Amino acid sequence: MRSPSVPVTFTVDEAHEHLTALLRDPTSVNPPDWRIDWADGPWPIKAYAGGERVPLGPGRLSRLLNLSLAVTRVRFAPGGLAPTPSGRSAAPQGPRLVMRRPIPSGGSMYPTECYVLESGSRAWHYDPYRHELTGLARPEAATALRRSLGLDERALLPVTVLVLTSRFWKNFYKYGEFAHRLGTIDAGVALGRLVRLGRAEYGAVDVRTEFADDVLDEGLGLDGRDESAYAVIGLGPALASSGAAVNGERPPVLIERSRRIKRSPVFEAIQTAARRAEPPSPRQFSQESVDPGAAPPPDDMVRRTSNGSLFNGRTAGRAALLSVLRQAEQALEELRAVGDVPGLVSLHCAVRAVEEVTPGWYHYRQGRLTLAEVGDPARELQRALFADNVNIELAAFTVHLAAPGDLRPLGGARVHRQTQLGVGVGIEALTLAATSAGLGSHTLLGFDVTRVAGHYDLPDGRAVQAQVCVGPVRPTITWEISVTQR
Ligand SMILES: Cc1cc2nc3c(=O)[nH]c(=O)nc-3n(C[C@H](O)[C@H](O)[C@H](O)COP(=O)(O)O)c2cc1C
Repeated sequence: MRSPSVPVTFTVDEAHEHLTALLRDPTSVNPPDWRIDWADGPWPIKAYAGGERVPLGPGRLSRLLNLSLAVTRVRFAPGGLAPTPSGRSAAPQGPRLVMRRPIPSGGSMYPTECYVLESGSRAWHYDPYRHELTGLARPEAATALRRSLGLDERALLPVTVLVLTSRFWKNFYKYGEFAHRLGTIDAGVALGRLVRLGRAEYGAVDVRTEFADDVLDEGLGLDGRDESAYAVIGLGPALASSGAAVNGERPPVLIERSRRIKRSPVFEAIQTAARRAEPPSPRQFSQESVDPGAAPPPDDMVRRTSNGSLFNGRTAGRAALLSVLRQAEQALEELRAVGDVPGLVSLHCAVRAVEEVTPGWYHYRQGRLTLAEVGDPARELQRALFADNVNIELAAFTVHLAAPGDLRPLGGARVHRQTQLGVGVGIEALTLAATSAGLGSHTLLGFDVTRVAGHYDLPDGRAVQAQVCVGPVRPTITWEISVTQR
């Protein structure tokens, strides 16, 4: 059963106020009686019954999805067991099994779904649990995609097009209004990984975040209210459509675990404020082939974890710090180069224990660290956390991603969405680069951004959006097991 909803529309200023509250005071955005109904949560994957199913065998699409969105591991946390032989356990909990994926996701919610359009014809949903595609039986999907981008019906589409969406209830049932910010950054993390893998597997990548939302959503059978498209990723050169759209296919049926999906007029108003009714001016997909880029080692992409480890307090090398920052900057530059996402995200770094670097708060740009404030940031960062669940005071350094605090002059809620996607792209690169440098990392949004920003003296009203703590780690009592579909 769905609760009745009261329509609310935000003005540009109201939307800005709400987005500012989500950033600066996220604990204030839910009503005081906000409760999570754990027993009625959604499944960890979007589930369809029926429909045509195609297992993803070997091949580039299979590799791309397997190293990004697939359920590849199961984490076992034996609740109630002491973290060290001499330590005391926290409040006893039962043992927990969590399905994990190669990319990080706030609270392991994985709210980002992926749809695949192959050869400009058939549309599929990617099932990350079974690593297979489910036919959507929507022969008009490619036409809708073209229309949403302002392209005419004969425009060529890349050989593979992915549409990333956010499935709101996945996050909302736990985080309430905060789900808007978290879900958008999470989609950015997925986008970052798919751009990286897309460059390595297909060469050409083209990211579109400007489209007529209703048209694109409708083409995939989404209502825009429970789930909505955030990004289109074209992979490979544009080609004439080779497959015929299939008519008469039986559509799959969406099944929900939750009996009650809570609605929030405020959540819906901020989503609506970010939507575009009209398509952008048309930009054709390029027919040129591009040489594939270098693929990062698959092991690093799967090995990366936030939760299997704790920081051990040891020092990191200066080269590792610079390499992590450089790779994040490169990913942000790449995003700007291959699509329509404005480059508004900057990188800053609080250094505690890095060889040959004075502890303090730094700005980073093109290989250079500029000191903003001297002093060990460890205690301050730990105190700024909303939940004391990670020992980030022992991280060697913490990277902060910042963006303009007031996006009204640049386009308001839609540009906010694009900026948050950029923050996610930065997070994906930082966590992967840390793993490649042999370091652990933990992404956090649950901290006092105003307190942290005060140490950087950020220019032009920029605001801190997210942090990634990096450093040498030691294992915890959590186990992980790799899983494959049979
Ligand atoms: C956008 C984003 C926000 C996150 N925020 C927090 C946070 O506030 N606190 C926290 O402990 N972990 C946070 N995490 C880490 C996730 O909880 C973690 O990625 C998830 O549990 C999956 O574990 P893994 O990273 O080991 O795969 C965040 C991760 C992402 C991508």
